[in-house]
Amino acid sequence: MSANSTPIHGNYHGYYAKRPTVKDPRLSLLPPELFRGTSVLDVGCNEGWVTCEIAQSWGARKVLGVDIDDTLTRLAWKRKRTVWSTQEPTTAIDEKPLPGYFPASFEHTFGPLPVPSAQTEDKHLFPHNISFRTADWTNTTIPQDAAGYDVVVAFSLTKWIHLNGGDDALLRFFRRVYDVLTPGGSLVLEPQAWETYAKAKRMDNRLRENAKTLKLRPDGFESLLQEVGFGPAQHMGTTGEGGFRRPIDIYKKPA
Ligand SMILES: C[S@@+](CC[C@H](N)C(=O)[O-])C[C@H]1O[C@@H](n2cnc3c(N)ncnc32)[C@H](O)[C@@H]1O
Repeated sequence: MSANSTPIHGNYHGYYAKRPTVKDPRLSLLPPELFRGTSVLDVGCNEGWVTCEIAQSWGARKVLGVDIDDTLTRLAWKRKRTVWSTQEPTTAIDEKPLPGYFPASFEHTFGPLPVPSAQTEDKHLFPHNISFRTADWTNTTIPQDAAGYDVVVAFSLTKWIHLNGGDDALLRFFRRVYDVLTPGGSLVLEPQAWETYAKAKRMDNRLRENAKTLKLRPDGFESLLQEVGFGPAQHMGTTGEGGFRRPIDIYKKPA
C-alpha cells in the first residue's frame, strides 16, 4: 500500500502527530496488572507507539503489532529503535528503565542505538519482546496466532474493518479475536462511535456503498460480543479530545 493512497483502512501516516504522547492515556485507564507477563497482539498497530509502550512499560512478556499497511509496519520497527535509543540505560535486569530519558535530538544527531542480541534472561524485556508484521488480520491467519494471546488490543480499528468489509467482516474479526485468546484472556476495545462513520465513508465510493449495508452499530457491540462468547464489558472510562473522545472497554473470554 503506497504512502500517498487514500487511507481507507484508517492507515493514516503521521497519526501520532495528531495524538502526540509518550504515555498513551488509553493505556492509563487499564489495570496495571492486565499486561504483566502476557503475550499481546495489537491489531492495527499503525506506527507502533502503543505497541512499544505496552512492551516497554507494562510488563508484557511478548508483544506483536500487526498492521495492514506495510509502510506503517516499517515505521513501527523504526519506532522500536527510537524508543530503545531514548530509554534510560539500566544495569540490573529487574530495574525498570525510564522511557524518554534521552532527548530525541540525540537519535537525530547520532543515529539510533544498535539493539543488542537478546540473552535468555532479557528475552521478555523491551526491546527484545516486541515484533511487527504486515497482515490484514481480519482476513488472514498469521503463524503467531497458533500459540494464542492473553490480550488482544484493538484501538480505533473497528470502524475501518466495518466500513471495508461490512457486518460480516466485523463479526469475523470479533470471532477471530475470541478464537486466538487464551481462556481468561482479554480483548481491550476502543470502538469508534457511529457518528464518526459519516466522515470516514466520504473518503471512498466503496466505503460509501458498504456503509449502506451496515446493520450492526457500535452501541450494539457489547451484546454482539456476548453472543460471540465474551463476558459483559468492563467499562474502563473515556479518554481523548474532540473526535478522539472514545470509551475503553475490556471483554474477557471465560476461563
Ligand atoms: C486509526 S489507526 C489506529 C492506530 C492505533 N491502533 C491507535 O489507536 O493508536 C487504525 C489502524 O488499523 C490498521 N488496520 C485497519 N484494518 C486493518 C486490518 N484488517 N488488519 C490490520 N490492520 C488494520 C490501519 O492501517 C491503521 O494503522
